[in-house]
Amino acid sequence: MKKKKISLKKASERGLVIRLLKRVFAENGREFFPQYVLATGCLVVVSASTAFLAWIMRDVIDKIFVEQDRGMLTALPVAVFVAFLFRGVAAYAQGVILARIGNNIVARYQRRLFSHLTELSVDFFSENRSAHLAARINQNVSGIRDTLNLTVTSIARDLLTLVCLVVVMIWQDPVLSGIALLAGPPVALMIASLSRKLRVATRQSIDLNARVLAAMQEIAQGITVVKAFTMEQPLRERVERLIHAAEERSNRIAVITERTSPVVEIIAGIAIAGVIAYSGYRAIVYGYSPGSMFAFITALLLAYDPARRLAKLQVQLERALVNASMIYEILDLKPRQADATDAPELAVERGTIRFENVSFGYYPGEAVLDGMDFTAPAGRTTALIGASGGGKSTVISLLQRFYDPAEGRILIDGQDIRDVTKRSLRSKIAYVPQQPYLFEGTIRDNIRLGRPDATDAEIEAAARLAQAEEFIVTQPLGYDTPLGENGVTLSGGQRQRLSIARALVRNAPILLLDEATSALDTRSETLVQAALEEIMKDRTVIVVAHRLSTIVNADQILVVDSGRIVEGGTHRELVNRSDGLYARFHALQTRDARPEAEALAASVRR
Ligand SMILES: Nc1ncnc2c1ncn2[C@@H]1O[C@H](COP(=O)(O)OP(=O)(O)O)[C@@H](O)[C@H]1O
Ligand SMILES: [Mg+2]
Repeated sequence: MKKKKISLKKASERGLVIRLLKRVFAENGREFFPQYVLATGCLVVVSASTAFLAWIMRDVIDKIFVEQDRGMLTALPVAVFVAFLFRGVAAYAQGVILARIGNNIVARYQRRLFSHLTELSVDFFSENRSAHLAARINQNVSGIRDTLNLTVTSIARDLLTLVCLVVVMIWQDPVLSGIALLAGPPVALMIASLSRKLRVATRQSIDLNARVLAAMQEIAQGITVVKAFTMEQPLRERVERLIHAAEERSNRIAVITERTSPVVEIIAGIAIAGVIAYSGYRAIVYGYSPGSMFAFITALLLAYDPARRLAKLQVQLERALVNASMIYEILDLKPRQADATDAPELAVERGTIRFENVSFGYYPGEAVLDGMDFTAPAGRTTALIGASGGGKSTVISLLQRFYDPAEGRILIDGQDIRDVTKRSLRSKIAYVPQQPYLFEGTIRDNIRLGRPDATDAEIEAAARLAQAEEFIVTQPLGYDTPLGENGVTLSGGQRQRLSIARALVRNAPILLLDEATSALDTRSETLVQAALEEIMKDRTVIVVAHRLSTIVNADQILVVDSGRIVEGGTHRELVNRSDGLYARFHALQTRDARPEAEALAASVRR
């Protein structure tokens, strides 16, 4: 019973390898077919000239040395030289062609992966650490190239050379060939037993290396926290363990891979020694001519290299296939919120947003939104407030279709956002996230990301509106100042104002502000608030706010608690509901300014 299980597993694994190879070839083989044919042609020349060299050895020995034929003294060396010349040129050409194909394949997969990653949904990125992902991709992309090139070179060059040489060997001496070829089966058996071990070790090694690289990137990003909390030592220890494990794994791979060498050498040694002993005996006892024996030995020695490479091929292919399959694991992920085929564009007339009894959780069985139901009227401002963790940012995410609700619908002007293209939906929305994110590039580039065709004048106008111009002009190169990673050279408030400018330049009918002003000091907040009020006119706005002062003028205030709307109305209405949550928040926040004074008063009284 147990045995059966194992053999089943092996069979399916072999099927997997073949499927993977087929796929790599199906996806890339056709485009490169002419180049591969050319490279194969070159490899055939290499094999043929190699075999020719072995074959001609008989004449060299018999004609020149035994018969002492002077005519052959020029003809044979010239023939040998020409064969080497062909071999050299053909080897050069195939090398260049295959390298170019390989580089092209790497570039193609990088392109495919990048565009695929941009298509994947938000949850993929919350589940995978960025640095780990990058390191994994980087290590694996070369795998696909190696799969193709290794297979092609080994089959075309090594296998062909080997076949040609074996033909020469049999032609020259069938008995000796029999002795030499006995070496084949034991080598093949041994190689097969190594493959599986190697596959497991390779996968672990790639993963460990990716984690080491990820740890390095994480330290680079969090360097100030690392220093402030003097985390250097524990981090070093943690990474040290990873590095050690990675080293161990690489050593294991080397041991498995190199295990082929001694075995191949020993078996080859036995075969070659046997051939020499037997043919020598034959020459001495029966007076056989040495020519065919020399030709045979030359063929055997020349066959040795390609045979050894072929013996290693499976081992190398194993690594390449692990790489390729790890790439395909990413490429095969389907974006969760895929557009329906022939989904129409979202048509926004007025921009009424409706959440219809929406329930949602990031994990199955968890309810972050629990029957969320509200309407954000067109051209008006709706404010969401409530304790943190209540689900406000989740509402903003769902509205952009980063995730799909588990139950209920989200409608914009009566159209379910699930039924329209994501592109059209998102083009109608300008979003200022809770954590501003800035990309590599200048300040101007970063604002322009809001709308690629925005003019410089529009960018500057948006920056002015977002109260960002005052600090932009003090930067060394003004708008053309390059930003550090995620804008580290700017303060939190400055980053947020750039993020607001980016949303303003988009000029979309729906504006989503997720605590957009929370990182600003009171003065800039008042200024940005004034600017926002300007652009909030005639737009449908959903604003998540922290400080109530920023939303008193909202047309509608919704209090969110544990994924539901528990209160709704204008500031006036809500503040007067004495037992309401809003009224309590309000009381808390207006009192916030007083504790110091109260403490002081208390100490004086004492
Ligand atoms: N990407 C995520 N994956 C898993 N859980 C999340 C994610 N984002 C938020 N949550 C959880 O969902 C709940 C609501 O979060 P959120 O909408 O950000 O609240 P708010 O913006 O009101 O502070 C929280 O309990 C939070 O832990
Ligand atoms: Mg939030």
